[in-house]
Amino acid sequence: MQHDGPDTRRGPGFSSVRRPVPGRRARRTAARARGRATESDGNASPNRPFRPCRHTRWVVDITVATESYGDVLFSSARDNEQTRLDGLTRALDPVSFQTLHDLGVGPGWRCLDVGAGTGTVSSWLSRAVHGPVTAVDRDITFLARKRSHLDVVHADINHTDFLPGEFDLVHARLLMMHLRQREELLPRMLSWVRPGGLLVLTDGVALHPEQYHHPAYREVMTGHFRMMANVIGSDLHFASRYPQILTDMGLAKVGLLAHHPIIGMNPGFATFVAHTLEQSEGHLLADGIAQNTLDEAVAHVRRPETREMFIAMLTAWGHKPHMTDR
Ligand SMILES: C[S@@+](CC[C@H](N)C(=O)[O-])C[C@H]1O[C@@H](n2cnc3c(N)ncnc32)[C@H](O)[C@@H]1O
Repeated sequence: MQHDGPDTRRGPGFSSVRRPVPGRRARRTAARARGRATESDGNASPNRPFRPCRHTRWVVDITVATESYGDVLFSSARDNEQTRLDGLTRALDPVSFQTLHDLGVGPGWRCLDVGAGTGTVSSWLSRAVHGPVTAVDRDITFLARKRSHLDVVHADINHTDFLPGEFDLVHARLLMMHLRQREELLPRMLSWVRPGGLLVLTDGVALHPEQYHHPAYREVMTGHFRMMANVIGSDLHFASRYPQILTDMGLAKVGLLAHHPIIGMNPGFATFVAHTLEQSEGHLLADGIAQNTLDEAVAHVRRPETREMFIAMLTAWGHKPHMTDR
């Protein structure tokens, strides 16, 4: 059976329905009409300068977002979601753990990990503080085995509250960028931090298309980020505003660390990116990306000698001031 357009009705673990691949001339005409790179328009050759075009840009229009993170895309019920997140944590955990250690997290701290996912950061925090850590997620499938050292809260953070000043640390990694209510949520998250405590946020930012070097990979990346904005309401640029936002919220000693995982160099990262693209396949094909372009991009990601960027990870933090600091 064949569906037209992105099929958000598909069940988890679904292997995507493929649309017929249009002929080469039809693809070229359609791509030109959309201003997208093709093999023959110059953008595709790695030896020629890349010409930005209309479709190298993407915007967040939350009015058109049709689902929330985890509803269909990146649902825990997808066959490859655990593998995808395991790849992510392998790539990011060493830097996250070192950053939290450097920020002074230690014995006795009361910590909240929001959107805890598979719980690797929550578990590290629990070891660092020598006690239980509160891990909240709207889907706790992957936290189930870690309950002994975590206080697992099964809740949507948009509809949950904690006590004012309840935590020494409120942490979220790769969550805020996907939440349409991100701007309203930040002051609420800060209210849960005790005066003198820390708010630490990590999110990914997309790069300029010229920084994706393989032509098919570049086209697919551009389509993927546009899709994330339009389907989920993800903001692939939000984290670049953290230093200003945290300063404007009155935080002290605001800092930022940029970490740039490289496909093929950071263990797990290629796995994460390949599975992310595989889950996005239905949307990407419906948006006009050719099946062979997508296959080429995924093969590029999976090649051990590939060295490409995907998103840059920005970790921002700040201390909630004591009343006397104001
Ligand atoms: C990209 S994963 C990141 C997981 C983890 N923070 C990490 O970095 O390994 C995003 C997580 O946020 C959770 N999430 C998404 N929307 C949420 C919401 N509104 N409330 C609570 N958790 C949410 C998802 O279920 C998922 O586990």
